[in-house]
Amino acid sequence: MNRMLRFFSMVLMTVFLLAGLLANEADKKVTPTNKILVVYYSRTGNTERVAKDLASRLGADSEKIIDTNKRTGFFGFMTSGKESVQKTPAHIRPMKSDFSAYDLVLIGTPVWAGDISSPVRAMLMEHKGSFKDIAVFATSGGDDPKNVLKTIEELAQRTAKAFVDFSRKDLQDKTAYESKIKLFISQIRE
Ligand SMILES: Cc1cc2nc3c(=O)[nH]c(=O)nc-3n(C[C@H](O)[C@H](O)[C@H](O)COP(=O)(O)O)c2cc1C
Repeated sequence: MNRMLRFFSMVLMTVFLLAGLLANEADKKVTPTNKILVVYYSRTGNTERVAKDLASRLGADSEKIIDTNKRTGFFGFMTSGKESVQKTPAHIRPMKSDFSAYDLVLIGTPVWAGDISSPVRAMLMEHKGSFKDIAVFATSGGDDPKNVLKTIEELAQRTAKAFVDFSRKDLQDKTAYESKIKLFISQIRE
């Protein structure tokens, strides 16, 4: 009887061990091998929505850029546009993340006057040279995001692995959104 019990407990242990190993292997497949950070600014929530979705799909860390300017209402809108056109960096709180500790940093910005937002400009000016690799995502009203990629690449001193812009329409259309975000993720994983 004792031998039977020992035999069954050994079989059980082997089954558990194998199940554990298989689960570990499955985890490895979905967990990115690289350490990724999503860093973004968002005034009205669109870029934040994409940033959170990317972080969740990639198992990445994320940090929002916090600026100290009041940007609500008409004057907030005008100040933001003026800063973007004049390439003036916003006043932002110090970032908590150590960018150099990440293999890839995804940088997200709303499009302001065809270019990047002033809080993202401030973050990049303060941290240029500390990125190993970058990819860029933007959200816009639907215009051509003209200078966004170029400005970020110049300020970060890196060529982006991938770039995607989500227009207001893309954000409302599940199919368009899914195809764009999946393509972007496949490009950054290459
Ligand atoms: C100051 C300002 C300038 C903008 N300029 C543009 C623009 O040139 N082209 C465009 O398509 N959308 C423009 N937009 C719209 C935003 O890019 C769009 O609503 C974006 O999704 C907002 O992102 P957020 O919700 O993360 O702040 C502008 C918005 C603001 C506030």
